[in-house]
Amino acid sequence: MNFVQQIRGSFPILGRKAGGRPLVYFDNAATSQRPESVLDLQQQLCSGHNANIHRAVHTLSYEATEAYEAGRKAAQAFIGAAQPEEIVLTAGATAAINLVADCMARGGFLSGGAILLTEAEHHSNIVPWQMACEKSGARLEVVPVAAGRDFPNTGAVDMEAYRAALRRGVKMVAITHVSNILGVVNPVKEMVAEAHALGIPVLVDGAQGIVHRRVDVQDMDCDFYVFSGHKIYAPTGIGVLYGKRQWLEKLPPYMGGGDMVDKVTFEKTTYADLPLKFEAGTANFVAAACLAPALDLATSLALSPDAREHERALMAAMAESLQSIPGLWLAAADATDRIPLYSFTIEGVHPLDAAMLMDKMGVALRSGHMCAEPIVDRIGGGSMLRASLMAYNTLEEVEAFRAALERTVKMLKQ
Ligand SMILES: Cc1ncc(COP(=O)(O)O)c(C=O)c1O
Repeated sequence: MNFVQQIRGSFPILGRKAGGRPLVYFDNAATSQRPESVLDLQQQLCSGHNANIHRAVHTLSYEATEAYEAGRKAAQAFIGAAQPEEIVLTAGATAAINLVADCMARGGFLSGGAILLTEAEHHSNIVPWQMACEKSGARLEVVPVAAGRDFPNTGAVDMEAYRAALRRGVKMVAITHVSNILGVVNPVKEMVAEAHALGIPVLVDGAQGIVHRRVDVQDMDCDFYVFSGHKIYAPTGIGVLYGKRQWLEKLPPYMGGGDMVDKVTFEKTTYADLPLKFEAGTANFVAAACLAPALDLATSLALSPDAREHERALMAAMAESLQSIPGLWLAAADATDRIPLYSFTIEGVHPLDAAMLMDKMGVALRSGHMCAEPIVDRIGGGSMLRASLMAYNTLEEVEAFRAALERTVKMLKQ
């Protein structure tokens, strides 16, 4: 059994059919599938250890708490954070960015300044900052990326513009590690260093980057790094916010409620120590615990030369397939460092129609503005198609995708 067959064997869903044909799941950037190790743990925890965490002294609560904290430790190890207290467990990347944006605004760290974003951010890294602007009187600065028909099509952030913008009163930088539209890996370490030289903190949105690149937050030196479990083999409903201890100490709490307090009276409440200060209410302990097996798998894949070779082969095959389709325009086609994520348009073909036809042929693609309207409006006329692959996808699936896309284009152009 070769490497990819072995991995696929542990993902039951990949054996199913769609549209009467073997499923080709190329929507991994939206959510990845879960291996048996994660599904088994979910089942075990629900059937044998279900309790509320951190509160009671009984056995079930103790076991559930242990499982939850094991998830936190797995996240800490996976991104190389110095302490478990620097890992705040949230509902997802979106929740984590909202937490930072809101606390930065309420803590007075943004007042009268600017928040710098790139043009290729997901709505989750735009809207929370717009809301923070309303609360703090700050404004947005947006740096362009080189993607589009009138630009070099590398998808690279305009670093000249970035350096210039940093000097226009910026108080916070919030940038994506890898855009969910362009698939290009941004030079985040360099961008952090440039911001830090001016004393500006940086949040990195790692929702896509964490899946395809090794992340060491201490080496990257970012102040905050966020990602979602469900894009990296874990269940939905769990996310990770890494924050440097000195920032998490400085920020005010986010939501109020159980578990985030030290002492509550009607006159005054004091708050729990990190990280619980930011974890109000009953946590999704099952999803949190599943970070451990999910990130175990991600680690073993990241360390496997076979997995890296397989990813290179998938990317080469995808590049060839996309080039073979007449009228196809690929965003960031000239990228120097990308992940296997491809957003494209096809002349004369509406992305939604194409995605529906592809689905009938068993191929799951994403279509529309993909929660990144500003960049998709500019480079894709408001709607694009996207294929995004994971380690468990195969070269045969790339060929099935190519054949289905060729047929789709012929049918829609008639
Ligand atoms: C770059 C990026 N940031 C943030 C998010 C939001 O993630 P979630 O919906 O899991 O909170 C996504 C999801 O697609 C994403 O691709």
